[in-house]
Amino acid sequence: MDTTLAERSRHFTRMIMHGLYRVARPVVFLVNSEVVHEVAVRFGEKIGSVRFFRRLLGGTLVFKDGALFQTLSGIHFENPLGLSAGFDYEARLTEVIGTIGFGFATIGTVTCAPYEGNSKPRLGRLPKSRSLLVNKGFKNLGVEKTLARLSGKQFSVPVGISIGKTNTLDIKTQSEAVLDVCKTFSIVENSDIPFSYYELNISCPNLKGNIEFYEPAHLDELLKDVFARELSRPVFIKMPIIKTNEETLAMLDVISRYKVAGVILGNLQNDRSHKTLVKGEIDKYPKGNLSGIPTQERSNELIRIAYQKYGKHMIIIGTGGIFSAEDAYKKIRAGASLLQMITGMIFEGPQLPAQINEGLAKLLRRDGYKNISEAVGVDAR
Ligand SMILES: Cc1cc2nc3c(=O)[nH]c(=O)nc-3n(C[C@H](O)[C@H](O)[C@H](O)COP(=O)(O)O)c2cc1C
Repeated sequence: MDTTLAERSRHFTRMIMHGLYRVARPVVFLVNSEVVHEVAVRFGEKIGSVRFFRRLLGGTLVFKDGALFQTLSGIHFENPLGLSAGFDYEARLTEVIGTIGFGFATIGTVTCAPYEGNSKPRLGRLPKSRSLLVNKGFKNLGVEKTLARLSGKQFSVPVGISIGKTNTLDIKTQSEAVLDVCKTFSIVENSDIPFSYYELNISCPNLKGNIEFYEPAHLDELLKDVFARELSRPVFIKMPIIKTNEETLAMLDVISRYKVAGVILGNLQNDRSHKTLVKGEIDKYPKGNLSGIPTQERSNELIRIAYQKYGKHMIIIGTGGIFSAEDAYKKIRAGASLLQMITGMIFEGPQLPAQINEGLAKLLRRDGYKNISEAVGVDAR
């Protein structure tokens, strides 16, 4: 098949999948969201373990275009869209993720000790507000068990691991927290899993106790010990979006003193009366923080601010409320070189990454850019 015809048929497959997902969505959304997530992940794991399905999916869904290729921090990305931390927290999807069109993926967040998760409900859907209510608090198997699952695996796209502080009240001081995080980094460094990058998550809003790394002095204490380890992979720091511009710039100032590859902007929204929320929708969930649309505008603002001051020194990964190629493009023009998402895929279906890449390539061409890197930050200058 010539390439145009092949691409046309892939475009058609994506549209059909999107249509089918929209028909199935109201029924799927009747089922408890944690159960659906669990089933979807196990299904993805099974598909990913069979070569035939991997080839079939890859051949019928993935969108490839040289305009989307980038090499950043020595890592080659076939497209800028990654799976954000929190979806594959048990490292089950590394084999399938590239075949549905993602350019990279982060597993975790993992912590030194395992954690069974905060009390239920831990995950809720706000379909009218296009958001998820998240209260997992780093539910994960613990670093050792997660790494064991990945033993002997090779990845078809760059895979990173997100590392955070164990969620326990037994960690009482900042220095104990730093030790806990550093221990996890050491365990990952000493493993033979071919990770391409690390994420250091300093911004989970659902943790027990009063330990935090937002204060510049606390962040400095953490980074000093993490970077004393001379890590073999680039490190990206997952930032909060709930801090003021001044507080964020103060954190970026500390980060800029270390050999950090970049920052991810950012994590969940904690404002339960956020203007984008449809009234009353959140009321049935007593606890948790928001993904999707309520994160979108603040993430875009912070990307712009970070790019203006630090864009020459740090790569910015834009995360929060990406549902379409237009949303993705806005983040790139604000200063993001790479993107991550979860919620858009849950609302629009697993073909969304490929659809966004197809749309992005069109938008770049429309504006006369030969490569995505030319569009990074054009609205922030
Ligand atoms: C169910 C769920 C779990 C998440 N868990 C994590 C996590 O463990 N670590 C992390 O850094 N971010 C976590 N996040 C935040 C996402 O990585 C992302 O920053 C946020 O959801 C905004 O992107 P989105 O609007 O595309 O979902 C989680 C988000 C969701 C929806």
